[in-house]
Amino acid sequence: MKIIITKDYEELSEKAFEIMKGVLATREAVLGLATGSTPLGLYRKMIEDHLQNGTSYRGMRAINLDEYVGLSPENEQSYRYFMRKNLFDSIDIDLANTYIENGLAPNAEEECLRYNALLARFPRDIQLLGIGANGHIAFNEPGTPFDSETHVVALTENTIEMNARFFKDKNEVPRRAFTMGIKNITDAKKVLILACGASKADAVYGLVKGKVTEDLPASILQQHKDCILIADREAAALIGG
Ligand code: F6R
Repeated sequence: MKIIITKDYEELSEKAFEIMKGVLATREAVLGLATGSTPLGLYRKMIEDHLQNGTSYRGMRAINLDEYVGLSPENEQSYRYFMRKNLFDSIDIDLANTYIENGLAPNAEEECLRYNALLARFPRDIQLLGIGANGHIAFNEPGTPFDSETHVVALTENTIEMNARFFKDKNEVPRRAFTMGIKNITDAKKVLILACGASKADAVYGLVKGKVTEDLPASILQQHKDCILIADREAAALIGG
């Protein structure tokens, strides 16, 4: 794993953008994207670069990690909405080439199979990830098998708490979500994982120095052949350097 430690969030976003820019050089790149607060700085830089330098996303595809069960794409808390608001509506990507699980799918099992087939059809050049304070990646919570593919999860109390800040009321946070599995994530050619803030320090320690264990899902990335971690000083506090 390549590790980059930055002085702050701004520098983290710049470094992440440099790596993303390398992937964007391929006209038909397939980008695996994430929601959450950590990638927002990177998305702002992608938008700036599109506006200032004309980098085009016309031939590209974007495939997202996860989506809440029960939320429609128009729901402001859905991840589909998040991606449009924070990235897609400000670049020239064709929305038909952006993919996310359908939170309203009538048959969850079929939806998972559909998403796995999509992932197999469009191998990702890069998979962007944040990390949960408990080491989760996407909605793969501790204990998720490393060979898992797209599935529905019941969110842990910890994750519901962390996500409650985006909702008016904690009771509005959906209890279940679709998520790419860990095998889907590690199938990407390159993985870029971003970690920011002291609350992520334990998880980053487990990711970099801990035992590879399903108890800390991100630890599997130690075995990925092209994984880059960018962490700010606070998130990197326990790994030294
Ligand atoms: C987002 C996702 C989550 C987040 C993680 C960190 O699509 O799947 O795993 O990456 O919870 O969230 P933030 O960036 O808000 O700290």
